Amino acid sequence: TPRIFSGVQPTGALTLGNYLGALKRFVEMQDNAGMETIYCIVDLHAITLWQEPESLRQAIRAVAAAYLASGLDPKKSIIFNQSQVSAHAELGWVCSCVVRLGWLNRMTQFKDKAGKHAEAASGGLYMYPALMAADILAYRATHVPVGEDQKQHLELARDIAAKFNNDFNVPDFFPLPEPMIGGPAPRVMSLRDGTKKMSKSDPSDMSRINLTDDADTIAAKIRKAKTDPEPLPETLEGLEGRPEARNLVGIMAALTDRTAEDVLAEFAGQGFGAFKPRLAEAAVAHLSPLTAEMNRLLADPAEIDRVLGDGAERADAIARPIMAEVFDVVGFLRSR
Ligand code: TYM
Repeated sequence: TPRIFSGVQPTGALTLGNYLGALKRFVEMQDNAGMETIYCIVDLHAITLWQEPESLRQAIRAVAAAYLASGLDPKKSIIFNQSQVSAHAELGWVCSCVVRLGWLNRMTQFKDKAGKHAEAASGGLYMYPALMAADILAYRATHVPVGEDQKQHLELARDIAAKFNNDFNVPDFFPLPEPMIGGPAPRVMSLRDGTKKMSKSDPSDMSRINLTDDADTIAAKIRKAKTDPEPLPETLEGLEGRPEARNLVGIMAALTDRTAEDVLAEFAGQGFGAFKPRLAEAAVAHLSPLTAEMNRLLADPAEIDRVLGDGAERADAIARPIMAEVFDVVGFLRSR
């Protein structure tokens, strides 16, 4: 059976981009019979950039609450935080010995996150993609739903899996994981600049919708979103060269479970003065119950912590025997 694995970093409030590109699709896959689904909160990845310890702990719970409020069900999916399952760190080390520096040097996310002072970046930030490969391979996951921005990391994970299989002469030891990048919003863009990704780290809060925003804030951000003066076209081709318009149509489609074509069929000929209030309505209708449920869950962290602990045990039960095989293949002596 296909085994799905994906992860989200607990670094600050999640955005509509995280929700439409990842969480909403995690739920669709969970509810797809015949798929085993494993969803991780990647706290080991989070500390590649400095995190205040108490904020980190809260952020882990907040992502767990977002998972559950989005519809992930701990009875159907394994939900846990990465640091509670030691296979991630262990296989991460093996993967960092398989990956080549030349491959890591091509990673654009490192360049973006390290900024101008790459010498001051942590070693972990550089090795980040090797740990990400380990996350997936520790479960022999076959499919990985992510947003478009993770495509390069997933290609690297496939290269690491293939090199391990080849170096140790164990063909098919690790399946090459398939990226699943799709849906109507694989890349949600900034509300202020349709050529930039919507991101938690953008200095302008007006550039993004956070899952913690209230209805008035969501409506205000959509009202002030950058657009152009043209009416909406009849076809997708008519959105070419109009990145902001393309983005808002994609968001509407994803929120209302339609294709961008269907959205255009409804709004063709109308301007953004008409479209934006409808988009704000759709966003609030979709996100308000989610935010309320997140807040309810966060009021009792003990329940969240219990879900994560239970998920970690189940994840560990899958990864432990695979790690024993890995250590054996690599040639480690095991005598206890
Ligand atoms: P992270 O925490 O940056 O983002 C979590 C998920 O949200 C998606 N995403 C978006 N999708 C559409 N539009 C956007 N503007 C947008 N912004 C974020 C991301 O693509 C991602 O799917 N390295 C990963 C976490 C990770 C992981 C893994 C993922 C660690 N190990 C193993 C899959 C498998 C990350 O930083 O995601």
